Order: sequence, then structure tokens, then C-alpha cells
Amino acid sequence: MKVDAAREAAFRCVRAVDAEDAYANLAMPGILAALSLGGRDAAFATELAYGTLRMRGLYDAVIARAARREPSALDSPVRWALWLGAHQALSMRVPPHAAVSETVDLARRHGGPRVAPLVNAVMRRIVERDREAWVALVAPGMSRRDLAIRHSHPEWVVNALADALNADGRHTELEQLLAADNAAAAVTLVARPGLAERSDLPAEPTTLSPWGATLASGDPGALPQVASGAAAVQDEGSQLAAGALVAYREVEPGERWLDMCAGPGGKAALLGALAAQAGATLQANEVHEHRAQLVRNAVRAVPESVVTVTTADSRELPAAAFDRILLDAPCTGLGALRRRPEARWRREQSDVPILAELQGELLAAAAGALKPGGIVAYVTCSPVLAETRDVVAAVHGLALMDARPAIAELTGTPRRTWGAGPHVQLWPHAHGTDAMYVAILERPRG
Ligand SMILES: C[S@@+](CC[C@H](N)C(=O)[O-])C[C@H]1O[C@@H](n2cnc3c(N)ncnc32)[C@H](O)[C@@H]1O
Repeated sequence: MKVDAAREAAFRCVRAVDAEDAYANLAMPGILAALSLGGRDAAFATELAYGTLRMRGLYDAVIARAARREPSALDSPVRWALWLGAHQALSMRVPPHAAVSETVDLARRHGGPRVAPLVNAVMRRIVERDREAWVALVAPGMSRRDLAIRHSHPEWVVNALADALNADGRHTELEQLLAADNAAAAVTLVARPGLAERSDLPAEPTTLSPWGATLASGDPGALPQVASGAAAVQDEGSQLAAGALVAYREVEPGERWLDMCAGPGGKAALLGALAAQAGATLQANEVHEHRAQLVRNAVRAVPESVVTVTTADSRELPAAAFDRILLDAPCTGLGALRRRPEARWRREQSDVPILAELQGELLAAAAGALKPGGIVAYVTCSPVLAETRDVVAAVHGLALMDARPAIAELTGTPRRTWGAGPHVQLWPHAHGTDAMYVAILERPRG
């Protein structure tokens, strides 16, 4: 195994994310290719980089204690190398001597020879304890601060998630949710109805979505159904959120549907497949042309007569034009932290009110674009109250309906499974999905 090269790849990925605002999942393939890493080496490098990016909050607390200084005061290459060293020693069972010496080598390569003694001393202190013992030292209690450090989330995110759990009657589940955010999510596929059968996929059917299947291993892109667009990678929660718009009530042939915020197109493709089966048509709109291009690619297997892809700002829509609208609003994404290792550190608390304002404007636009009696599914991959319940509560001209029967029908479960309603909030720790929020609102007739 090329362990040095694998550590080098992980270092480059962490550096690209922290210094250049790169996305880990977009940066990593190129880094692995540049270092000619594949197979187990690539898997080691990826686990090291993604795990480090997730857990860096805990490692900063450990490094602060071991180095007796604020990690932000360290040279960046030293801090990155120490994060990676801490992850190897505390979360990957790399033997202590290897974690120390490899980290010193990495820091020397990127930070110069003068940093080696400091990195050596800090790593030696880190490997004196296992992760449990470090947690007992740096975050022993149950305060929000300690939970934030223990599970490596920014404290404002912990507070926002706690508020959302409490509002959903899940007062005791905060630690379970934070832990679930740190477990890498399985690869879930969608077999788009009428285009692929999930029984034909080399994957286990999921328990909630009628179209979902979990891929145990292998490259999903290599499957012929995925290559053709008949199937795709899609979280089960996203499948349910899009499906709820259709399951809510029977479709009349000729209905016009709109996906207001369609890029990159996963939900538009599922809705398009359902529209084709039901005799409806779908307009998939996206404000950014490059993302509209992704939507065109995503819907390529759906008949052209069913889906039209457009580029415009959805705050300006024709009046009373649609029977059903999906508003999968731009949001903080704090419900999908399992899938994006760096996302929790990238968001700022000040993003929330800015996004909430846009979400409110989009929902108001949806209200005007619905025909009387039409419905909108307001969806976010964030459970944060300011982006979910508060947006829905503030809109005028729409009545909040009960979304639970639609989700119950799709999942084949009793309605009471889905909380107190009228909206449905999915959770990673409870449902194994991203924390999708789904509300269904109707424009009253007359
Ligand atoms: C959460 S993503 C949608 C994900 C998509 N529904 C899917 O399942 O693949 C939100 C999208 O809304 C787009 N967006 C943001 N503001 C918009 C606006 N004013 N009008 C239309 N689209 C907008 C963003 O560019 C982004 O692609």
C-alpha cells in the first residue's frame, strides 16, 4: 500500500478545502488521479481526508490542549497535518508510532524542517490517550458546548439542530443526531418509475422509498441504468419529498407541474418520470444556466414531450399556471451533513436569515403561480426552523395541509409514524435519510 502517497492525497484535499474553499468530493478524484492512487490506497486517503474534515472541531480541541495554544495560531500546514495525525491516531487505529512519524514527515514536507519538533511533540502527546480519554478531558459534559466539541459541529449548528428536534418532539435525540451526522451515508439509488425497476439493480431495496435501493459497494456510475438516466444516486429522503407532491392526491391527466428550483435535477427527473406515467407535464426551472444544463442531463431518460427545462428567476412566474409545484428551496443544507464532510464549517449563522428571506420570496411566488386548488410542496434539506416552519408560517394566500398521509402512503407506514404534523421532518438518526423537511400547502379555491 502506498501509505505516504495516500496521506499526501488526504493533505492536499484538506488544504484545498480549507485554503481554497474547494468541495472535498469534487477535489478528491483529481488529487487521487494525480498521485496515481486507486483501490485500497484511494479508500484510505478518502476516509482520512473526509473523516478529518468532519472531525476537525474535536481535533482542534485536542490539539489546543496538546500544543497549549490556539490551533488557529499555528501555521496552516502544521494545523492540517495535526488534524490528519489526530484522525489517524484517534479514529483510524493507525499505530501510534506510525501516526507520529508520518505526521512529522508530512508537516516537514509542507511546512519546512523548522516545524518538525513542534509537530513531533504535539503528536506524542496526542497518542498518549485514545479518543474516549481525550473526549473525557476536553468535552466531558452534556452542555451544548461539550456536545459541539465531542461530535465536531459548530456550536450554533448544534443549537439550531436542538431547536428543530425539540419542535418535532424529539427532545432527547440531539446526541444521536450529531453522531449520525458523522457516519458516512450509504449510497442510495433511485429507480425512476417507468424507466427502471429497482429489482433489476444490484442493490438492496430501501424500506421507505418505493423506488430506492442501497448499493453495498461499487461505482454507481458503472451501472447501465445509471448511465442511461433511468436510475441515479439520490437520498431516500429526497425521493420521498418529491414523491409526496404526487402522492398527496390523485393526478388528473393534463396537469401542469413546476419544479421551481430544479438544479441539479434529481427531483425533477423523478417528478418527470411520475408525470410521464400520470399524463402530466413538468417544467423544471433553474436560475443558473450551468445548473439548468445539469437538469437537462438528469432528465435525459424522460420523454422530451413531458419535461421542459427553463432558466429564469422563479420569483417571477406566470400567474395561476400550475396544478402542482415543487419548491425545493436553496437552504443551508444542514440536514445533509453526512454527505458533505466540510459543509458544517462552511456555513455561517448569518447565512440563515439571508436564505430565509429568499425562501419566503420563492414561496410567495409559488402561491401566485398555483391555480386555485393547486398544491405546493415546500421542501428543504435543512431542519432549521427559520428555513422550514417559520417560512411556511409567514406565507400569505396558502393553507397548510397535512403532509403525513402522502408520506405514509409512499412508505406503506401508518400516519402516526410521521409525528404530530401537519409537516413531515425526516431525520438521519431516526429514518436513515437526510433531514428533509416537507410541507404541503394549497391555494384555496375562490
Ligand atoms: C436545493 S437546490 C435544488 C435541488 C434539486 N431540486 C434536486 O433535487 O436536484 C436549490 C436550487 O435552487 C436554485 N435557485 C436559487 N435561487 C433561485 C431562484 N430565485 N429561482 C430559481 N432557482 C433558484 C439554486 O441554484 C439551486 O440549484
